[in-house]
Amino acid sequence: MSKMEEIQKICLNRGIIFPTAEIYSTISGFFDYGPVGTLLKRKFIDYWREIFVKNEDNILEMEGSIILPEKVFEASGHLKSFVDPITQCLKCKSIQRADDLIQEKTGKFVEGKSVKELTEIINNEKIKCPRCGSPLGEVKLFNLMLKTDISPVGGQTAYLRPETAQNIFTSFQRLFRVARSKLPFGVAQVGRSFRNEISPRHFIIRVREFNQVEIEMFYDPQNAGCKKFDEVKDKKIVILTREAQKKNSKPLTMTAEELLKKKIVPSEWLIYFMAKEFEFYKSLGIPEDCLRFREMLKEEIPHYSIGNYDLEINFEFGWKETVGNSIRTDHDLKNHMENSGQNMIVTTEDNRKIIAWVAEPSFGIDRTIAGILLHCFVEDKQRGWNWFKFPVKITPYPVAVFPLLNKDDIPEKAREVYNMLKKEFDVLYDDSGSIGRRYARTDEVGTIFSVTIDYDSLENDTCTVRHRDTTKQVRVKIKDLISIIKKLINEEIEFEKVGTLLK
Ligand code: GAP
Repeated sequence: MSKMEEIQKICLNRGIIFPTAEIYSTISGFFDYGPVGTLLKRKFIDYWREIFVKNEDNILEMEGSIILPEKVFEASGHLKSFVDPITQCLKCKSIQRADDLIQEKTGKFVEGKSVKELTEIINNEKIKCPRCGSPLGEVKLFNLMLKTDISPVGGQTAYLRPETAQNIFTSFQRLFRVARSKLPFGVAQVGRSFRNEISPRHFIIRVREFNQVEIEMFYDPQNAGCKKFDEVKDKKIVILTREAQKKNSKPLTMTAEELLKKKIVPSEWLIYFMAKEFEFYKSLGIPEDCLRFREMLKEEIPHYSIGNYDLEINFEFGWKETVGNSIRTDHDLKNHMENSGQNMIVTTEDNRKIIAWVAEPSFGIDRTIAGILLHCFVEDKQRGWNWFKFPVKITPYPVAVFPLLNKDDIPEKAREVYNMLKKEFDVLYDDSGSIGRRYARTDEVGTIFSVTIDYDSLENDTCTVRHRDTTKQVRVKIKDLISIIKKLINEEIEFEKVGTLLK
């Protein structure tokens, strides 16, 4: 069993993430988050907001509708260009993504090829249906958007948005006024997006309903500097350029300043976000050598972009884009202006009339969570069970409380401590089975501090605290527990120094 399969099994057994409506087992590409998964996702979003919204002075937030009228996607280009090539088996009628299938069977990279060229490759390479071995039909284009109709009598087509970004573009003028009519400013949005993926796969990595956090950073292309660039200029990132991909050579390690000076990424704003992303993903527990940016090849870049520099995570099956970083130019605002007849032009401080340009980092939450689950997973033969080394900021339940025994006033005392801690932290209470079993269960969901209430607790108001990573234990006063755990979470104190270390 691969590591990811093992993780998926734990996710099912512990109700962390599981298939939607699985009792009917009819749809793929949809997943529900259970109690631990929901907290992990929420904490990831909170942490993301802390770094990418609260730490900035000119990034606002909004929450837009998921269903948008057809006209939005006519203007944005998604109706015409948001397509994947498919081929259908002439016998069993199963549908395959043509480019993926060709790459799988021949190793050839065929992104950007026309349907005619793809059909020819399938025929020349004699690629057959992977399910039944029969011949495949002509390659056609399939639009990935999920369609709906919002009129009771029909005829009012709408789509579930394939990215959160479009709400921000269509409401640009209102948001610009909220930002005191000054560029640069950014708008961030956390929300759901939908794509009718032909072959959803790899757990929550390619699904049909997913969560994104996107920032649309609007700036004047003639005055495109990022004021806070100095804060990141010396930060190092790893990037696989187009040139390196063509020569099959290694990615380069560079500072943000070098990326700018060597014009490898032609947007100061995008480099600013990329430098922050690299640090942020490392702090999520993903090792540096499993992170890289990849400059998309010309034939791969989306219809709205003039350049993409995507953050990829190394999964067991290979590298996978997890944050799309695009230079979207004025593509969206210009097209919405033309199609809606509404003005999207703004006046700069030096009185020029312009359409703002956009730098966009677009984070996939589910893919990030898959990366965190994979890279924080510890296979621990010595302990006898596997566990998640989640960083403290995103640990679903950082604290657990156990009564040593279910008798002699110990459970009452443990409940008292649990109720006290619950006011400050997300806390698990576990009173079943041996203490060893309880440690295993809490380690499995990444809990860092396990508090045990025992006979001494009744006598002198103390308890033991065990640390997930080292399994070391200290005895501390119950009245100090909240402040100790807060200090530990903020890394203001070392675990072994918070109380009496137990042998
Ligand atoms: N607004 C730009 C945009 O949506 P994208 O590169 O298509 O760009 C951004 O998507 C991120 O959203 C991806 O890097 C990925 O993490 C996530 N994503 C896209 N499609 C997904 C899918 N089918 N399942 C899970 N995550 C997906």
